[in-house]
Amino acid sequence: MDEPLLAWHGKNGRSLPWRETKDPYAILVSEVMLQQTQVERVVPRWSAWVERWPTPAALAATTPGEVILAWQGLGYNRRALALHRAAQAIARNGWPDDLTELPGVGPYTAAAIRNQAFGEPVLPVDTNVARIQERTGYAFGPDSLQALFDLGATICLARIPRCEVCPLAAACPSRGRRYEPSRKQSKFEGSFRQRRAATLRLVASAPRPLADLDSDAVAALSRDGLVETEAGLVSLPG
Ligand code: ADE
Repeated sequence: MDEPLLAWHGKNGRSLPWRETKDPYAILVSEVMLQQTQVERVVPRWSAWVERWPTPAALAATTPGEVILAWQGLGYNRRALALHRAAQAIARNGWPDDLTELPGVGPYTAAAIRNQAFGEPVLPVDTNVARIQERTGYAFGPDSLQALFDLGATICLARIPRCEVCPLAAACPSRGRRYEPSRKQSKFEGSFRQRRAATLRLVASAPRPLADLDSDAVAALSRDGLVETEAGLVSLPG
């Protein structure tokens, strides 16, 4: 199945900016951003990030506060601090053999960097890749990674796959099936995550008195190192 997939990808592949590089740092940034944020939203933010901080040393030299500001809008802000700490570790010690030693890098992201930056024959399996593997029952090779990302994003969709235009349909045992709505991401509106996000946005625009803020949200943000409180004033970490 790799062959028809790669032929399809040759004609229909998306052009994404991180596909033009093999720089492991640039790939790391893309994968951390893509962990929980959609591709279209990541594209402009990734370009701005690697232009502003083109190397681990450049990112390591900035403050956590600047990193949090630059992350605004991508969501799940702890990822920004983890990426910053990863850059500091790489700047100090170089790339570890086991990439999961880096903050914010789990087995999936480690495999994604090894495949895309180091050209190693490993296939990172995210939810899209897993879905295509399950439906087709086929063990795709590592060279099919980008094609699998694109097939999962445009054809082999979670609920209503577009089998009529799928290059794998002829050999796919799940052809024509429909799927129940999967677990929706829990609602952001009215959630504690929203309160945290709103509080961080306020503090990011200017330091604020603790008394003016949602104190539960400040406590949670403080635990994660996203804000600091000094003399009753809450600010981004310096
Ligand atoms: N999702 C996770 N990593 C990706 C990548 N490199 N390209 C497109 N989608 C992705």
